[in-house]
Amino acid sequence: MEIIENLCDITIFGGHGDLAFRKLMPALYHLSNNGYLDEQSRIITAARVPMSNEEHCDLVKSKLQEFLSDTAFDEEKFDRFKKQLHIVTINFMDNESYSGLEALLSTHPDRDRINYFSTAPDFFGMICKSLSDWKLITAQSRVVLEKPIGRDLDSSRVINMEVLKYFNESQIYRIDHYLGKDTVQNIMALRFSNRFFMPLWDANNIDHIQITVAESVGVEGRWGYYDDYGAMRDMVQNHLMQLLCLVAMEPPCSLDADSVRDEKVKVLRSLRPMSASDIEFKTVRAQYAAGSSEGEAVPGYLEGDGVEESTTETFAALRVDIDNWRWKGVPFYLRSGKRMQKRNSEIVIQFKEIPHSIFVNKGKCISQNKLVISLQPKESIQLQLMNKIPGLSEQMRLQQVELELNTPLNMSHKPDAYERLLLDVIRANPTLFMRLDEVEAAWKWADVILDGWSEEIVPMKSYSAGTDGPSAAIQLIARDGRSWHDE
Ligand code: BG6
Repeated sequence: MEIIENLCDITIFGGHGDLAFRKLMPALYHLSNNGYLDEQSRIITAARVPMSNEEHCDLVKSKLQEFLSDTAFDEEKFDRFKKQLHIVTINFMDNESYSGLEALLSTHPDRDRINYFSTAPDFFGMICKSLSDWKLITAQSRVVLEKPIGRDLDSSRVINMEVLKYFNESQIYRIDHYLGKDTVQNIMALRFSNRFFMPLWDANNIDHIQITVAESVGVEGRWGYYDDYGAMRDMVQNHLMQLLCLVAMEPPCSLDADSVRDEKVKVLRSLRPMSASDIEFKTVRAQYAAGSSEGEAVPGYLEGDGVEESTTETFAALRVDIDNWRWKGVPFYLRSGKRMQKRNSEIVIQFKEIPHSIFVNKGKCISQNKLVISLQPKESIQLQLMNKIPGLSEQMRLQQVELELNTPLNMSHKPDAYERLLLDVIRANPTLFMRLDEVEAAWKWADVILDGWSEEIVPMKSYSAGTDGPSAAIQLIARDGRSWHDE
């Protein structure tokens, strides 16, 4: 078992929130059990409701039992893990309430301190100030910021500047959990470790690229948050943009954090800003109406309890252009939505047609080669090729075959994205986290579209829950003579 050298104290602010129980605790439980988190390291939950350590451990246990698979939860392992758990009561608005945290942290003043802000961003500045007032920020401190970091460029600047008053940029880890997914990291491995793709990865050979992140779930009790953000702010500005960056960026000069992030930010700065007419013809926004999901009737977005009117989109589709040498004339089609037919996240690289076909192929066209990178639910990388149908037919006939490039994982436990990212914070490796300039460049581009939408340049469409989104999204790509990839 590998034991890492870092001893650290991890404080989770908002430690009794949904993310903490659903993702952070399970990730830390696995890291600890698999030897990636030294058993002397402490996991400190900062929560508002007073609770004894014992009550807290019982609560964490019940949540782990709920969110881990049956086989992953183990009483014996939990008994070891719970020794690392601590709780302090903090009311973010009350500076005095940090005394318990100070008492705990000061017993190990030299340890790396990881502060995970799993709270609404409005609290980030307040928490930083209290940490600073109590002298809890050291050179070994790091801070992890959960999204959303703002609703637009201006508000994201305010939040970032608040945090930057107390932490250096190198201490700030802005998380985008998509970057922690194994298949997402594989995009870099695929592109930059295979000569094969190098000469093909450009406008000379690629017709267009599609990025789809479809969810079958609705807003799942998060209406209060979601309605303030919508698909563009919740998914496109961050997760889809990060995927686009990894697909479109130039090879970094090394894998170090700044080399990778320098290349990503260049892509974001090369995104063609949308004019009013681009917004009208190249973007689609929509809201789901009642329909069905997995065979069950589900209400529409506006039919939930206490829901009134809303102009928040639950679906967004866009045609994006990148103005640089590599991608001249290659459209990127992006779409993301809730309550869609099925959960499906994928990146499709569609290559151009061959210049001239010598095959008759019974009147059928020769399919263009595609590289399909599936992120979820299945994880795979498939190259679609044409080859000959075996046999003695007079005319050579062709068929499409799929070459699977991802070797199936033979791991008893497949790490979740949060496990990878938390471990990177523990190891002080910021490569998979967003730098300030990336966040700002993504907002700058997205703001123009969001402003256009708020001016109603493009009408809100509707789609039935359980479908592939509004017909306008099909027209968006059909207008260019193309269609969405269908498995
Ligand atoms: C989060 C969004 O960032 O990503 C959620 O806030 C969304 O609305 C989630 O459901 C999707 O993550 P994943 O890993 O399940 O695709």
